[in-house]
Amino acid sequence: MNDKMRNKNKNNLKAILKPKLTPQELPSLIRGFDIIGNIAIIEIPRELTKKQKLIGNSLLELHKNISSVFKKGAAYSGKFRTRKLIWLAGKKSKETLYKENNIRLKLDVEKVYFSPRLANDRLRIARQVQVDERILVLFSGCGPYTFTLSKNSPAKEIYAIELNPVAHKYALENQKLNKSNNTIIIHGDAKKELEKIIAKNKKTNSKNQLKFDRILMPLPKGAEVFLDVALKVTRKNSIIHFYDFQKENEFELSADKIEKACKTAKKRYKIISIVKCGQNAPRTYRICVDFKVL
Ligand SMILES: C[S@@+](CC[C@H](N)C(=O)[O-])C[C@H]1O[C@@H](n2cnc3c(N)ncnc32)[C@H](O)[C@@H]1O
Repeated sequence: MNDKMRNKNKNNLKAILKPKLTPQELPSLIRGFDIIGNIAIIEIPRELTKKQKLIGNSLLELHKNISSVFKKGAAYSGKFRTRKLIWLAGKKSKETLYKENNIRLKLDVEKVYFSPRLANDRLRIARQVQVDERILVLFSGCGPYTFTLSKNSPAKEIYAIELNPVAHKYALENQKLNKSNNTIIIHGDAKKELEKIIAKNKKTNSKNQLKFDRILMPLPKGAEVFLDVALKVTRKNSIIHFYDFQKENEFELSADKIEKACKTAKKRYKIISIVKCGQNAPRTYRICVDFKVL
């Protein structure tokens, strides 16, 4: 769902709720909602708590393809970047099947991080991939980047590493669901798994070492801690997609993190682009710094 559709949905919801909310309450419904498969997830401001069930039922009425409505119970938190959801209307199941960019993803929307708002970013990266690339997706969740690349790019092999055991279980299911034969799904801590690869590479001749043409690091809160090991599995001309949260006009702080890591690793690099991929607070963005190891 793009921003235009999200706004249209929000306006439709406002129209259906107009007779049911007071003129003071209606403007409080400021944010849109996300649809993941047959589940809608909406933010309900405190002043509308008493009307939340009514809002949930109105959403079910409005979208015949939605069978459950949950409200955001908290912000994303913890190392798995998950968030609590509170049931409002319809079925109580939090498991769903979601489709985007020719792929299908099964997931539990509470136990696994997932954002449909990043669909365009996933496709943006898939379109950059060259024939026969070997790609590494760190922090891969239930596989949105992994399978988007598998189905929409000419990559040869895609390795994916995820720590959350529930997300990993779904990634394995999604591998089958998408008949994705060029993916290697690994459960574990990105640093430890990469250290294993680095140790193995040290014992292998340079031709047979496991190195990657492209590395995705979609963990905007803390990815910099993994830059050292990621850089060790790059080769000349590898591209890294480094995600970060940054305030407007402070994007250079993310570039500084890359500069520091590359300096320590004694790697030369070139920043290719800095892309805004989403907004997570007023004037704070989820950005992706794409850089090339020279
Ligand atoms: C922001 S989410 C992104 C998930 C997925 N790439 C997506 O876009 O939907 C970050 C993911 O990193 C995982 N994670 C956090 N620390 C990790 C670590 N040390 N090693 C591997 N995965 C980790 C979390 O469990 C979570 O699934």
